[in-house]
Amino acid sequence: MTAATANAPTKNAKLLAWVDEIAELTTPKDVCWCDGSQEEYDRLCQQMVASGMATKLDEKTRPNSFLFRSDPSDVARVEDRTFICAKTKEEAGPTNNWTDPTAIKATLRSLYAGCMKGRTMYVIPFSMGPLGSPVAKVGVQITDSAYVVVNMRIMTRMGKKVLDYLGDQGTYIPCLHSNGAPLEPGQKDSTWPCAPIEKKYIAHFPAEREIWSYGSGYGGNALLGKKCLALRIASTMARDEGWMAEHMLILALTSPQGKTHYVAAAFPSACGKTNLAMMQPTLPGWSVRCIGDDIAWMRIGKDGRLFAVNPEAGFFGVAPGTSYKSNPNAMKSITRNTLFTNCLLTPENDIWWEDMDVPAPAKGLDWEGKEWTPDCGRKGAHANARFTAPATQCPVIDPKWEDPEGVPISAILFGGRRPNTIPLVNEALSWEHAVFMGSSTGSETTAANIGAVGVVRRDPFAMLPFCGYNMADYFAHWLDIGNKLGSNAPKVFFVNWFRKNSAGKFMWPGYGENSRVLKYVVERIEGKDVGQTTSIGILPKAGAIDTAGLNVSAADMAELTKIDVDGWKKEIDGVAEFYAKFGNRIPPALMAELAKAKARLGA
Ligand code: OXD
Ligand code: MN
Repeated sequence: MTAATANAPTKNAKLLAWVDEIAELTTPKDVCWCDGSQEEYDRLCQQMVASGMATKLDEKTRPNSFLFRSDPSDVARVEDRTFICAKTKEEAGPTNNWTDPTAIKATLRSLYAGCMKGRTMYVIPFSMGPLGSPVAKVGVQITDSAYVVVNMRIMTRMGKKVLDYLGDQGTYIPCLHSNGAPLEPGQKDSTWPCAPIEKKYIAHFPAEREIWSYGSGYGGNALLGKKCLALRIASTMARDEGWMAEHMLILALTSPQGKTHYVAAAFPSACGKTNLAMMQPTLPGWSVRCIGDDIAWMRIGKDGRLFAVNPEAGFFGVAPGTSYKSNPNAMKSITRNTLFTNCLLTPENDIWWEDMDVPAPAKGLDWEGKEWTPDCGRKGAHANARFTAPATQCPVIDPKWEDPEGVPISAILFGGRRPNTIPLVNEALSWEHAVFMGSSTGSETTAANIGAVGVVRRDPFAMLPFCGYNMADYFAHWLDIGNKLGSNAPKVFFVNWFRKNSAGKFMWPGYGENSRVLKYVVERIEGKDVGQTTSIGILPKAGAIDTAGLNVSAADMAELTKIDVDGWKKEIDGVAEFYAKFGNRIPPALMAELAKAKARLGA
């Protein structure tokens, strides 16, 4: 036992030994076992205000809320620096960065050596999923970032209650994180310590169920419960244990007749999951309630249906574009107790971002802390600026959002940003066809990752950056789940809110108007004769989408739901090219779907 564990609030031998080992390696000035209390959260926020890392927002306008500005190099997930360190390259598959686990551990150990010098090491016990429920997974994150601690308090169930639950013998997923910026005596601290890009590593060890993250303090790189645990590590656990860990929102949709259906939907990062998850339908009498906006853990329930749980406790949403028009419930969720990162600071000490749908302030401090005016030619907020808000603050949070049993899923939606070809809504012909559709999801890239924006790439099931093992095996897992679900399988639809016309304008208004597509989905679930089987899937019959009061021309509606044969032939060629990356590992059922898709198009 060292000073790190001398007064530890646990007797869990495995945890004590690990904390000792990491403290010895990283040499922090002290160790703080996080209890998850409000007092601790307030104290850390105050400390960060005092050190210049955080700005307290106006207490009357936005109580108990803070703004952080990251280093300009540390603004998003870093897929190029994210590694799946499975035993072999084949296990990680061609879509993941792989390095040998032993070699990368040696590299990382040398980076971690002394990396917390001059800093506090925080130990954060947390639960993904309602604490103590059979579906929950417990992790312990070690970090030298107070920003991570306060964000984890919102995004997970964390603190003493988790240690109590672990007891002396309980096991947990070790999540090690450091900003990678040791502080020498007398050295002036940066307001956002981090390491240069080539020294950032977000490493996952699926066999050992471990996460080692170094050098970045931002979002999914640093809040290790989210993408690292609840998706990359959980997806491998799910494969081994027969369930699913998916990059999906979960919503409850209630019709004017009072019937509720639960829908899960996978969209790539920054494609509107938060907006859809808590949408305010424009169709009279319909309502949406939110269960989760980013991650769904799904299991086959006792009655044979698929049940989904949201493992998170908060929203880490993209700020720019969020407005009372696009997402009134998100705006109401962030009125208090919210952490903002890389937004603009107004002279009144509030936050602002582009497309917030309120007039831009006459001046402010932009996300880099530089003087900003509306005509300065720079964005006020970074495109991947975020808010971190407790799920309980969402006015339409569903009463079942913490139910450990989850909610039964009637429909799954896949979607991406596709300016052409992909129709507004297209239903899969079978579960195999659904898996084929999911596996071929393509989307324009967004600012959620560091890299080019607006380039179409294959992002199967919106899991490209988040699947912890070979994606071909993941497709096989989906097929396997479908076999187990049989006739209880949810219906699956591919949607596209992002079609553009020849002038480059969006053809579909999106946001609350997407309720029109959800209504059609419900009609299909309930067996209404509103769809027609075509060469690409089941498309809505003419007039099947309720357009009453909608400002979309009949010609545009026809365009949004027609088959662009040449575009689809190219699409299928793109899928074949993507599948080829996996050699003969693609399941035969999907190769058969590819052949059928080609034949149906006469390609
Ligand atoms: C997220 C992402 O932060 O997908 O949810 O990048
Ligand atoms: Mn996401």
